[in-house]
Amino acid sequence: MARKLNTSSLNKDRMPRHVAIIMDGNGRWAKKRFMPRTMGHRAGMASLKKVVRACDDMGIAILTVFAFSTENWKRPRDEVSYLMQLLTEFMRKELDELHQNNVRIQVLGDYNATPPECRIEIKRALEMTRDNTGLIFNIALNYGSRKEILDAAKTLAAKVTAGEIKVEEVTEEIFSGLLYTKGMPDPDLLIRSSGEMRISNFMLWQIAYTEIVVTDTLWPDFTEDDLVQAVVEYQHRDRKFGGLNK
Ligand code: FPP
Repeated sequence: MARKLNTSSLNKDRMPRHVAIIMDGNGRWAKKRFMPRTMGHRAGMASLKKVVRACDDMGIAILTVFAFSTENWKRPRDEVSYLMQLLTEFMRKELDELHQNNVRIQVLGDYNATPPECRIEIKRALEMTRDNTGLIFNIALNYGSRKEILDAAKTLAAKVTAGEIKVEEVTEEIFSGLLYTKGMPDPDLLIRSSGEMRISNFMLWQIAYTEIVVTDTLWPDFTEDDLVQAVVEYQHRDRKFGGLNK
């Protein structure tokens, strides 16, 4: 049973529309317990389930999580394959509930590189939830922001060469429309767990004015309360977008 979320400290009028999360610290969590890293990822999946529900309950419109980067293929083969299995399991076990809750699942990144069983589950999830109108749940998978930006630049260059658009007509909106996050507002809040002060090639274009909250909590220990706390911290920030506040 999902725990009742304590949202009394939240200002309902200043909720972030889009929350992005770098779920870091699974390996360290496992190491502290003399467990294999894979167990840290499994515990991390449990945290993710809770956080998706909490975002839905809090009325956040978009949640984007960094599940697997283009650089993560460099990890030991066993760890990569376990992460792919976990993703497959997550899709199999959670899809019905997410669909019932009107959640729309999307993948940011080229998931064609994932194993066949994972691809099948992803396709099923994307198709089943395509018309849902509730929380948009973006899973960044085989995702790298530089690749995303470079691909957009190549597409744009090809359009210019083909005479479909003139260089001087290119705007930030047009460029944004070529990214995986096409049509979505940029993240208002980026949370990174486990204390690392890095962006790690995540949403470099989209986080230009995003508020960043870094928590020392390792991702498997991250709870709904940590999410609420991060949102409260966000709500106390003075967002100026490069301008001045009155
Ligand atoms: C970073 O921790 C985490 C990852 C590379 C994977 C994130 C995956 C999950 C939370 C599990 C399941 C996800 C889905 C979508 C089912 P790390 O391994 O770099 O930790 P460390 O820095 O402590 O070594």
